[in-house]
Amino acid sequence: MITVVSLQELWEARQDLPGPVGLIPTMGYLHEGHLILVRQALETCASVVVSIFVNPTQFGPAEDLEAYPRDIERDLSVLKSVGTHLVWLPTPEIMYPANFQTWVDTTDVSQPLEGSYRPGHFRGVTTVVTKLFNAVRPDRAYFGQKDAQQVAVVRQMTRDLSYPIEIEVVPTVRESDGLAMSSRNTYLDEAQREAATVLYRALREAESAYLQGERRGDALRRIMQDTIKAEPLASAQYVSCADRNTLHEIDLVTDGALLSMAVYVGKTRLIDNWILKP
Ligand code: PAF
Repeated sequence: MITVVSLQELWEARQDLPGPVGLIPTMGYLHEGHLILVRQALETCASVVVSIFVNPTQFGPAEDLEAYPRDIERDLSVLKSVGTHLVWLPTPEIMYPANFQTWVDTTDVSQPLEGSYRPGHFRGVTTVVTKLFNAVRPDRAYFGQKDAQQVAVVRQMTRDLSYPIEIEVVPTVRESDGLAMSSRNTYLDEAQREAATVLYRALREAESAYLQGERRGDALRRIMQDTIKAEPLASAQYVSCADRNTLHEIDLVTDGALLSMAVYVGKTRLIDNWILKP
C-alpha cells in the first residue's frame, strides 16, 4: 500500500495505477461501514484509492471539528489489511491553500433536511469531493447509503459537472441491534447507545405501516415521530418521507421513497434512513 500526502506525490502514484480506479473518500476513523466500501471497490476496480481528510469546510461553527475522532495509524493498518492500493492524506493547506476562493454548490437538493439544519455543510462536501475527483480522477467513487442526502447531492454534482465517474452507493452497515455504524457512535455512553436504536426502530415501524398499505406521507412521518418521542433520551430534529433524488417531501408515498431522520441522543446527533421497497 502506498501512502501519499502532497498533490505531486498523488499525481505520480496515480499514473502507475491500473484502471479502473475506485475512490473511497473518507474522513477517517474507519469502521466496518467504510471497509465495506473498500471491499466493494476491490471487487470490480483494479486499483482502490482511499482519501482520509477531515474536511473543515463541512463543519458548521457550532460543530466541533477538533473533537472529531481521529486515528490515522489504525486507519492505515486496516486499509492495508483489506488490500487498499493507495491512501491519500492531504493536509488542510493542500486542500484549501491560502486565499482559497472557489466553491462548488448545488442549489436545490442540498437545501432541505440536513442542508437546512447544517447550513453550508453540503457546499463543503461538494467542494471537497470535486477536489478529490479532480486530483484522483477515479472511474468509480463509493459512498454509503447512510448519508442519503449526500448521495443525492454528489450524484447531482457529478451529473452537472459532467464527471465521467460512476457513483456507487453501498447499503448501510448496521450493528446487530440495527444501529447504523457511524464514527459518532463513539460519543454515546451505555444508556445512550441503547437509546440510539430508536432511529432504526422508528424507520422499521414506518416501513411496516407502509407494507400494510399506509400511503400517506404524513402518517409515516407521525409514526416515526411518535416512536422517537417514546424514547426519553432521544429527541428528533427532523423526520422525513421524501423523494430520494430531490429530497422533496411526499404526500402520496410510492416504492423507492426515502424515510430519513436526524435525532439527538444526548448531545450526539445521529442520522439514519430507509428506502421503502415493495
Ligand atoms: O461522508 C464523508 O465522510 C464526507 O462527507 C466525505 C464524502 C468524505 C467528504 O468529506
